[in-house]
Amino acid sequence: EDYQLDGYADYMRKEIGEQPEAVRRALRGRLDERFSTARLGGLRLDPRELRSIRRVKFLGCGSAYYAGQIGAGLVEELARLPADAEPASEFRYRNPVVDPETLYVAVSQSGETADTLAAVQELSRKGGRVIGAVNAVASAIARECGSGVFLHAGPEVSVASTKAVTNMNTTFAMLALLLGRVRDLSVADGRRIVEGLDALPDHIEEVVRTQDEPIAEVARKFAEARHMFFVGRVRGWPVAREGAQKLKEISYVHAEAYQAGELKHGPIALIDPSMPSVVIVPDDELLVKNIGTMEQIKARGGPVIAVTNAQLPEGLADAELRVPRTEPELDPILFGIPLQLLAYHLATALGRDIDKPRNLAKSVTVE
Ligand code: AGP
Repeated sequence: EDYQLDGYADYMRKEIGEQPEAVRRALRGRLDERFSTARLGGLRLDPRELRSIRRVKFLGCGSAYYAGQIGAGLVEELARLPADAEPASEFRYRNPVVDPETLYVAVSQSGETADTLAAVQELSRKGGRVIGAVNAVASAIARECGSGVFLHAGPEVSVASTKAVTNMNTTFAMLALLLGRVRDLSVADGRRIVEGLDALPDHIEEVVRTQDEPIAEVARKFAEARHMFFVGRVRGWPVAREGAQKLKEISYVHAEAYQAGELKHGPIALIDPSMPSVVIVPDDELLVKNIGTMEQIKARGGPVIAVTNAQLPEGLADAELRVPRTEPELDPILFGIPLQLLAYHLATALGRDIDKPRNLAKSVTVE
């Protein structure tokens, strides 16, 4: 085994720390500064073919599905193409309409997930255009897709995926940039995204270096909680879903993710002092709305943990997990990092087996 713990207590924490390097690898040779775009040769699509794509659909399971949802948001924002994500486990069973003008993206760390592989096979059978976004190079999904973009996260041992997910998100930002630049994304906006991506590894490094200890403290403070909400809107919504997923997997604390605007339609009834809410609060055009959400939660006695790069009103959040500023479209990539650390430290505070959570396998190769 050439992949060792190197003094870390577990692989998950090691892999969280490896993310700056993993993202650097994913970006290497793929950012085109001259034309403010991305180079993804493995797609094997020339500009005309790229332009003929009318819709993008991401398919994956679990965290790979949530990453796909982040990808769909990026494609919609940067390329102004309709895009969505669907669990491959649903897609394969519902006799999907396969549209020749849609680019299907199969997302998988292991490349062996049975449901995702079956979705790809169904697509191939129906003549759908499917590419892989896969970490394991010699895997079944990579082979079945034939073209795509490798994630270059390196080996991931921990059942809870961290660096592979971050590399999925980073890769989708490049795909969205490329699709945008063959359409209406301006050179200036393209350059802004290229520069934002270029700075990403350092930003991730800063979160891991400066926030690890403060987040461990927050985790200890809230370790008694049996239920938690993860709340976000638009860019923050898939981030919240992935944050809840990570916490459930390794701490066994019940966590539910909600779109911020949906809280008032039912789940807000659950808010009380024993139910902390982790709220995703980027400093973007929805900041005022998200501050409103935090006020609603506080007004019902619910503790608020804000994940933010904004200056929040004094005393609004009971704890703040800080992230550096990046380009707003790239916030979902960076905001995922403190949530990994929160899940990790909460599970550690509860004495859980971090790398081998109960009932879970690293890759699910059966139905
Ligand atoms: C991630 O933390 C999970 N262990 C799980 O949801 C995982 O993302 C899912 O099973 C898909 O795996 P894959 O990326 O290897 O296809």
